[in-house]
Amino acid sequence: MPTEVIEAVLIAGDGIGPEVTAAACEVMQAAGAPIKWLSMPAGVGAVATHGDVLPEMTLAELRRVGVGLKGPVGTPIGGGFRSVNVSLRKALDLYAAVRPVRNLPGVKTRYENVDLVIFRENTEGLYTGIENQVAPGVVTSMKVATETACTRIAESAFEYCVHRNRKKVSVFHKANIMKLTDGLFLRCAKAVHDAKYPQIGYEEIIIDNACMQLVRDPSRYDVLLMENLYGDLVSDLCAGLVGGLGVVPGANIGRDCAVFEAVHGSAPDIAGKGLANPLACLMSGVMMLNFLAEKHHSQPCRIAAERIKGAYDHVLAEGKIRTRDLGGSATTDEFTTALISSL
Ligand code: NAI
Repeated sequence: MPTEVIEAVLIAGDGIGPEVTAAACEVMQAAGAPIKWLSMPAGVGAVATHGDVLPEMTLAELRRVGVGLKGPVGTPIGGGFRSVNVSLRKALDLYAAVRPVRNLPGVKTRYENVDLVIFRENTEGLYTGIENQVAPGVVTSMKVATETACTRIAESAFEYCVHRNRKKVSVFHKANIMKLTDGLFLRCAKAVHDAKYPQIGYEEIIIDNACMQLVRDPSRYDVLLMENLYGDLVSDLCAGLVGGLGVVPGANIGRDCAVFEAVHGSAPDIAGKGLANPLACLMSGVMMLNFLAEKHHSQPCRIAAERIKGAYDHVLAEGKIRTRDLGGSATTDEFTTALISSL
């Protein structure tokens, strides 16, 4: 039994959220992760139980314990409530979305040697949700960029390079069109690079060309840095390079709090059918354990993270038990059981 216990908030979320978070927690517990989960409500389901998509008690617990694992939540299209994710990231100032995208053992895709990390600015851009109808049939959406936010996300990306021995940051932008907002993003990134990280490679690429380059040869990239909307889109594109949304984890990191979650959404098309791949959520849990290992110098967290990674590498490489998105026929439960047996 682990002697230390670290509290972490668990948000099951909507759609496949409860399935993938339950699977992730089961594997993490079996691996000896010293986590005490505090289940908190958020998402469409929270309206019925707590009268709010993002109850204040959930934010309060996240502020108190400083860390959480979150399942996806649904967001209505073209109306309805504001995205829970946008509100959560804003409320807790989780300004850096960090999304590692790598080939996995035995998961064959069109590409080899994909090893990218996306740094997405998580609080500004077009996601501020400032939209207006200026006249009937005429609407606007305001893109916001501030020097503070552009600078701190650049700092995060370069600092990551230093700690993880990464060689190059590529900034994706459209500053030829959005001269002020993307222009500021670029200027801040370059200023951070030139002043503090000249030893790290630096390039600026217009995003349409960058996407074309990504699908031609992703191995030319290392760390990708971009504003909010581009980061959202490029994350899914990159997931497609390595096997899809079922295998790409993520972290939303702020100064005082970090919330870990897969890149994928609530997948209403497969929700409740036992078909979801829990790996992206579990890998986000591994990112959380590594984060806690560093923050609390927790050896049990580090060991649990290594055991889980070893288990999924093994099960995937063997190739016998896989969920449907990876070409197999295993259910969420069968895959979870296989992971636990391989710990
Ligand atoms: P989605 O990511 O939920 O699904 C896209 C496709 O990928 C679907 O065919 C789905 O079945 C598949 N997929 C996703 N995750 C999978 C997994 N773990 N295993 C196997 N297959 C998986 O994107 P979509 O359909 O655009 O969005 C659905 C809802 O999710 C929307 O309400 C959207 O706003 C929300 N969303 C929430 C996010 C979050 O909470 N972090 C992120 C993205 C979307």
